[in-house]
Amino acid sequence: MRFQRNILITGGAGFIGSHLVRLFVNKYPEYQIINLDKLTYAGNLSNLKDVENKPNYNFVKVDICDFETIQKVFADYQINSVIHLAAESHVDRSIKDPFAFAKTNVMGTLNLLETARQAWQNTENQNLFYHVSTDEVYGSLEFDNTLFTEETKYDPHSPYSASKASSDHFVRAYHDTYGLPIVISNCSNNYGSFQFPEKLIPLFINNILKNKPLPVYGKGENVRDWLFVEDHTRAIDLIFHKGKIGDTYNIGGFNEWKNIDLIKVMIKTVDKLLGRQEGESEKLITYVTDRAGHDLRYAIDSSKLKNELGWEPSLQFEEGIEKTVRWYLENQEWLDNITSGDYRKYYQEMYG
Ligand code: NAD
Ligand code: DAU
Repeated sequence: MRFQRNILITGGAGFIGSHLVRLFVNKYPEYQIINLDKLTYAGNLSNLKDVENKPNYNFVKVDICDFETIQKVFADYQINSVIHLAAESHVDRSIKDPFAFAKTNVMGTLNLLETARQAWQNTENQNLFYHVSTDEVYGSLEFDNTLFTEETKYDPHSPYSASKASSDHFVRAYHDTYGLPIVISNCSNNYGSFQFPEKLIPLFINNILKNKPLPVYGKGENVRDWLFVEDHTRAIDLIFHKGKIGDTYNIGGFNEWKNIDLIKVMIKTVDKLLGRQEGESEKLITYVTDRAGHDLRYAIDSSKLKNELGWEPSLQFEEGIEKTVRWYLENQEWLDNITSGDYRKYYQEMYG
C-alpha cells in the first residue's frame, strides 16, 4: 500500500510520544507511522498495545545517536516527515548524568537533522522536521504576571534544559543555513496516563496509593503550568499540518499551580477515589532538600497558537487531574510493572 506520508515519530514509546502515535495511527490511516525508539528505561511498548497491529504502524528499535542506522531507516521507509520527541527528559537525572543528556538530546537531534537534510535535499516532496521542545529553555520567571512568549530570550539552568535549548538552536540553524523545513513547539508541563512515575504527578499518585512519603522539594512553592497530554498532542497535530515553516509555537495551559497546592489537590482526589478520609494522606507530605538550580516559575503564553491556529486547552484542570488519577488507580498493574522494571522483560525478548 502506498501511503500519503511516511512519518517518523521518535520517542514514540514514551509518555507524550505514545499519545501522539496513537492519535496519528488512528486519525490518519492514509499516513504510515514509523515509531523509532531506543526503549530506554522510559520507553514502554505496552503503552501502544491498542495500535501495535494496525496496518499503518511500524516500530523500529533504534538509538538516535546511531547515525548509520538512522540513515537506513530513512531509506527503508522513504521518510518524508519527522516529529522528534526522543529525549532524556527528567531534570533530576540530568543533574546526575549530564553527558547522557548532551549525547541524546544534542547529538541525537543533530543526527536526525543531518539525515533529513541529506535525504530531502533533492526531493520535491512535502517534507517537515517538527521538533518537540520545552518551555524550560526560557529559564525561570519571578512570581509576577510575566509569561514566556516565543520572543523570550533562552536562559536554561539545568543540564536538561541546556541540552534542549542546544537542540532547538541546531534545528533553527538547519533551517537558516540549509533551508530544512522545520517547525518547533515549546510546551509546558504535561500530565496524563502513561507518564513514567519519576515525574511529580504519577510519582505522587503511586506513593499516595502505597502510603509512601511524598518528597516535596524545598518549600513546595515552585510554580508549573500544567497541560493535559492529549491537549498537547492535539496542538502538535495542528502545528504539523498548519504551522508556518520556520516558526516556533508556545503551548501551555494558562494553568499555573504552586507545587504544594497541586499536591493537595492530588491527595484529595486520590483519597476520595480510594474511599479514604478527606486529607488523610496529607501526613505523607515530606519536605526534602531542594533540587539544585530549581527553576522558580514557568508560565506559557500560548496566544499565538490560539490566534493563528485556533488551539485552546480542552480540559479544566480539576477534570483532567481526576481523569488522570482514575487512570492510574485503574491501571495499577502498569504502575507496578514499571516500578519493578517488569515491562522491559516482555519486549526484551522481541527486540533485544
Ligand atoms: P519520556 O521520557 O516519557 O520519553 C522519551 C522517549 O524517548 C522514551 O520512549 C525513550 O525510550 C526514548 N529515547 C530516549 N533516548 C533515546 C535515544 N537515544 N534514541 C531513541 N529513543 C530514545 O519523555 P516525554 O515526557 O514523553 O517527553 C517527550 C518529548 O517532549 C521530549 O523531547 C521532552 O523534552 C518534550 N517535552 C516534555 C514535556 C513533559 O512535560 N513531559 C513537556 C514539554 C516538552
Ligand atoms: O516544563 C516542561 C518540563 O516539565 C519538561 O520539559 C520535562 O521533560 C518534564 O520532566 C517537566 O519538568 P519539571 O522538572 O517541571 O517536572 P517534574 O515532574 O520533575 O517536577 C515538577 C515540579 O515538582 C518541580 O518544581 C519539581 C517538583 N518535584 C518533583 C519531583 C519529581 C518535587 O517537589 N518532588 C519530586 O519528587
